Amino acid sequence: MKNVAVIGAGTMGNGIAHTFAQSGFKVQLIDISEASLKKGMDTISKNLDRMVAKEAITEAQKQETLNNITTFTDVTEGVEYASLVVEAATENIDLKLKIFKQLDKDCPDDTILATNTSSISITQIAAATSRPSMVIGMHFMNPVPIMKLVEIIRGYNTSDEVTKTIMDMSKSLGKIPVEVNDYPGFVANRILMPMLNESIETLYNGVAGVEEIDTVMKLGMAHPMGPLQLADFIGLDICLSILNVMYEGFKNPKYAPCPLLVNMVRAGKLGVKSGEGFYDYSQSKKAEKVAKQFLK
Ligand SMILES: NC(=O)c1ccc[n+]([C@@H]2O[C@H](COP(=O)([O-])OP(=O)(O)OC[C@H]3O[C@@H](n4cnc5c(N)ncnc54)[C@H](O)[C@@H]3O)[C@@H](O)[C@H]2O)c1
Repeated sequence: MKNVAVIGAGTMGNGIAHTFAQSGFKVQLIDISEASLKKGMDTISKNLDRMVAKEAITEAQKQETLNNITTFTDVTEGVEYASLVVEAATENIDLKLKIFKQLDKDCPDDTILATNTSSISITQIAAATSRPSMVIGMHFMNPVPIMKLVEIIRGYNTSDEVTKTIMDMSKSLGKIPVEVNDYPGFVANRILMPMLNESIETLYNGVAGVEEIDTVMKLGMAHPMGPLQLADFIGLDICLSILNVMYEGFKNPKYAPCPLLVNMVRAGKLGVKSGEGFYDYSQSKKAEKVAKQFLK
């Protein structure tokens, strides 16, 4: 495999493109928005600069990585020679089904189609194509160039051969892949989201304040970041939508989102991206400082 197309140049897409390009793959980075492509490429360049400054890579390796990436706004053109497509577009079921229908039509017959979705059923996405055995979940973690884990999700029809190819390829990126099956939340979010929801419930019930809850979990459980701050980083709207997928998928009240989370999302308090969640990020320096602490 040489050519990898990445759909979406946002937070995850640019990290995925960076990671493949740094491992020598030719990457076609595709986004409907020119502005997102530009922002994505700027982010990759800045992240590579940081690696050069830390002497993790040389200036020549930085240039080589950037040269491995070509940008496209047209999906058909971008996926023409792809052996693998990793879709990292906005988390919206109708959008993903539409994208996979188009990929199925535009890609060569032997192209593997992967999705980075956090919560949508791989089996449902695969059913929108004529090649369900070649559709798989490749759930990278944020920030992609740093985080080692890739959750590899087998849909109901994903073949052994495709799973092995993607497991091996993830290892060749320097990642540690873990194979899981396709049920709501997969493994990572099925375990993480109830913990975040419970920490919001603890706040809602007045048991302790924001800083107190985060301090207990950081110092008491050796978590690098408190759960409320982590929820702010993930985005409260994303947390709510993943909890709803599990609540509906399992029909189990233990996944019901806390009313405080629902209210905060309704009020537009989405965490770092909106400038306020459980913490105030209105001064951008503060958000940067928190991000650095997380990435240390
Ligand atoms: N942010 C995270 O921490 C995280 C972690 C793991 C997985 N994910 C998953 O990764 C995916 C992307 O999330 P994100 O946080 O990078 O989102 P984002 O909003 O930062 O980026 C999404 C990008 O997709 C582009 N896009 C929308 N429709 C498109 C289309 N039809 N064709 C091409 N590009 C299109 C948008 O222009 C945007 O640039 C989602 O499925 C999300 O659930 C996110």
